[in-house]
Amino acid sequence: MEFIKYDVNGRVATLTIDRPKALNALGSQVLDELNQTIDAINTDEVWCLIITGGGEKAFVAGADIAEMKEMTQAQGAEYARKGNDIFRKIEKLPIPVIAAINGFALGGGNELAMSCDIRLCSDNAMFGQPEVGLGITPGFGGTQRLARVIGSLSKAKELILVGKNIKADEALAIGLVSAVYPLAELMPAAEKMAGRIAGNAPIAVRHAKEAINRGIQTDIDSGVDIEVDLFGKCFETADQAEGMGAFLEKRKEKTFTN
Ligand code: HXC
Repeated sequence: MEFIKYDVNGRVATLTIDRPKALNALGSQVLDELNQTIDAINTDEVWCLIITGGGEKAFVAGADIAEMKEMTQAQGAEYARKGNDIFRKIEKLPIPVIAAINGFALGGGNELAMSCDIRLCSDNAMFGQPEVGLGITPGFGGTQRLARVIGSLSKAKELILVGKNIKADEALAIGLVSAVYPLAELMPAAEKMAGRIAGNAPIAVRHAKEAINRGIQTDIDSGVDIEVDLFGKCFETADQAEGMGAFLEKRKEKTFTN
């Protein structure tokens, strides 16, 4: 792999998009390597994933503008499909994914961050969907996920139609990120959160993620059905026996097995 680093530390893996000379722009090769890396994650061993950007300036500054410049309509659509398929795969990973956004998250960078479950950022981070200024629409899920993530059609349309970038404090205010840290504290904070997630019962964590993801796309009655089904599936698992057993035995140490 030239542009993706993947490190596993205990139950937590960190995937770094590492093409700092182009501010980690998502060219085709980067997307291919990202896809292969995601496919190879062993979710029996890794219980939480962090995605971040290499260098100190950018998470991901977008899809590769130089590569897109000469594309035909068919090639543009193919590129959007490729990125969307990978980002949807990230969203549907059974394990939680934290985006540690260490700088620019523009266009495809913001779209990658939004395909993750939780977004944390550094105080130098900058977010936006500047595509309309380039003569294109967002194409890696931005028109679909931004409103879902921030819960405001008006704000999502403003960001996409005006194409303005926002700083970390505004991203926090609109709910695009959960927390802002000084750059040096971002990865330790992401690792701490990932460690806490990976310390919980993995089956319950995965079912909870799935229930939220599937439920948000449906009506409340169907959503409740999804919850009931996945809640039921937690029972008779070793995790449930261990979690409830530890509480009733007043035991702090718990060993979840998956
Ligand atoms: C290709 C990029 C890039 C990108 C930066 N670079 N962003 N190359 N695609 N998205 C390259 C620059 O060309 C430059 O290369 C190097 O990275 C450093 O960037 P600078 O512009 O010199 O840095 P700076 O002046 O600090 O400005 C940072 C920046 C700016 C504000 C982030 O680079 C910028 O506006 N980038 C584009 C952001 C953007 O529009 N993203 C959306 C893309 S469209 P050289 O070789 O000159 O050193 C998109 C669509 C998604 O994402 C859907 C597709 C289907």
